Amino acid sequence: MSELCRRFLVLGAHGQLGHELGLQLASRWPDAELYLLGRAECDVTDFDQVAEVFAEVQPDLVLNGTAYNAVDLAEDEPDEAFRLNAMVPAHLALNSALCGATFVHYSTDYVFGEGFTSPISEMEVASPNSVYGKSKRLGEELVLQNNPGNSFVIRCCGLYGERRANFVRTMIRCALQGRKLTVVEDQFISPTWVRPLATVTLDLLTSDHAPYGIYHAVTQGQCSWYEYADTIFKSLNLDADLSPVLQADWGAKAPRPSYSVLDNMQLRVLGLDTMPDWKDSLEDFLTQYGEQIVSEEK
Ligand SMILES: NC(=O)c1ccc[n+]([C@@H]2O[C@H](COP(=O)([O-])OP(=O)(O)OC[C@H]3O[C@@H](n4cnc5c(N)ncnc54)[C@H](OP(=O)(O)O)[C@@H]3O)[C@@H](O)[C@H]2O)c1
Repeated sequence: MSELCRRFLVLGAHGQLGHELGLQLASRWPDAELYLLGRAECDVTDFDQVAEVFAEVQPDLVLNGTAYNAVDLAEDEPDEAFRLNAMVPAHLALNSALCGATFVHYSTDYVFGEGFTSPISEMEVASPNSVYGKSKRLGEELVLQNNPGNSFVIRCCGLYGERRANFVRTMIRCALQGRKLTVVEDQFISPTWVRPLATVTLDLLTSDHAPYGIYHAVTQGQCSWYEYADTIFKSLNLDADLSPVLQADWGAKAPRPSYSVLDNMQLRVLGLDTMPDWKDSLEDFLTQYGEQIVSEEK
């Protein structure tokens, strides 16, 4: 990204990742003009409003933090998932192209289906097995078509942060309520804190050597959802009635891959893979925000 780029637009700026991107953009480029717009300021499904925002802001860089993330509900609402995850990013990428802006979009490990047993690099062919995964995959393709040569699509996994609903907060709430928790033990992921993900995004944007295209950006290592939950409880010394369950017995509406651990191959090859180990990162996060979340959920 050129040193002259100084007009940054974040859409979905109150989401987990959108919020963190806003904080880090402001701290890295304190002199930049930063437009952090949530749904109230810019509903990304309202294409007239989006056009007005682009015309007014004339951004050099656009980061899309919006998404339809309800994996199970998407099975019943394919049009909504398609609208937010495919049509909207296509439209934002097109608007970015028209004003010469770099476009950054986020995708998911769920663009991969079954068949993997070791970390999945960008070389592998996506084969989603859920409506959510298919809508995100289509979004990736449409972004790269609509702003070719000026878009980054960053696939991530299991995001958490100190705000909004996420797995960490849900587990803490359920434990505090004394609920019996059964968590899947045979689906493997790399839970990722939005903080290092936002940092790696900005590193990618400022690198002189990073080609546009698809990147994987998740924490190192892997765990099952069960191990993830168990680690949260042990770290916070929370008593939880936790037991493992097989995905076949869990009965979620949407199929999920049993192994969707990503390999950050592109970042590694470029020398930009600073993503931490998943457990260290979770520990850091809980040290900083664990007590706050516990008191908010009490
Ligand atoms: N969360 C995960 O575990 C996960 C995993 C893999 C990939 N990803 C991807 O990572 C990216 C960031 O996810 P996240 O966890 O930060 O999501 P998030 O916290 O759910 O935030 C999504 C944001 O999108 C906004 N939004 C939804 N519809 C909108 C609309 N019509 N107009 C404007 N804003 C709208 C929401 O606004 P409201 O606050 O008004 O609802 C919310 O602020 C997404 O592309 C997601 O698919 C996430």
